[in-house]
Amino acid sequence: MNEQAPAEAGLGEVVFSADEIAAAVVRLAREVREHNQGRPLLAVGILKGALPFLADLMRALGDYPLTLDFMVVSSYGTGRTTTPDVRLLKDLDQSPDGKHILLVEDIIDEGYTLSYLLGNIRSRGAASVQSCALIDKPFHRAVDVHPDYVGLVAPEDAFLVGYGLDFQERFRNLPHIRKLHAGFPQTGGGDGKVARLPRAGASRRSSFGQ
Ligand code: IMP
Ligand code: MG
Repeated sequence: MNEQAPAEAGLGEVVFSADEIAAAVVRLAREVREHNQGRPLLAVGILKGALPFLADLMRALGDYPLTLDFMVVSSYGTGRTTTPDVRLLKDLDQSPDGKHILLVEDIIDEGYTLSYLLGNIRSRGAASVQSCALIDKPFHRAVDVHPDYVGLVAPEDAFLVGYGLDFQERFRNLPHIRKLHAGFPQTGGGDGKVARLPRAGASRRSSFGQ
């Protein structure tokens, strides 16, 4: 399949090919191994966006001592604009107390979600908390958080879909990551996130098409 040919109207250019993502995942697994030197990790996938990334990362970690758990958070309030109001929709099945945690996130944008998760898990007595994000989108960072492991850095300010990233719950199944075309009809974001146009001037939290 030609990755450059949009599968449907509204999808923009491919930003990260499946091969680029796979290479980033292999590198991240190597970094996690080297940093942790065989100590057991509890990988915490942040659903739903981290699902394909976590699945590939855990397989790239191969025989590393690893267990899995999941959390679901929403970074939205009731409205359509992004808010710092992060809510826990599903908690861990086990206590993080005394464990070495590897948070696995799809994308860090403003940083509210990661900041919330780090605080939440640290406050419950984790022995250590590391964060691993497939994509860092540094253009709108509102909280000074930096993932310990970053797979790919978004080259420009665009709303991305594919490989777990959604727009209104769609496109998570794309094998690559591509831009959502600015003209895509929308009513709100997927995991609650609102798709934003690149900022022009002051309207920092503006969303397109609303
Ligand atoms: P933050 O709290 O602003 O860092 O938001 C992080 C969450 O927003 C991610 O886990 C995604 O669910 C969502 N998100 C941020 N940027 C994008 C994007 O470009 N495409 C799809 N989802 C995004
Ligand atoms: Mg997410």
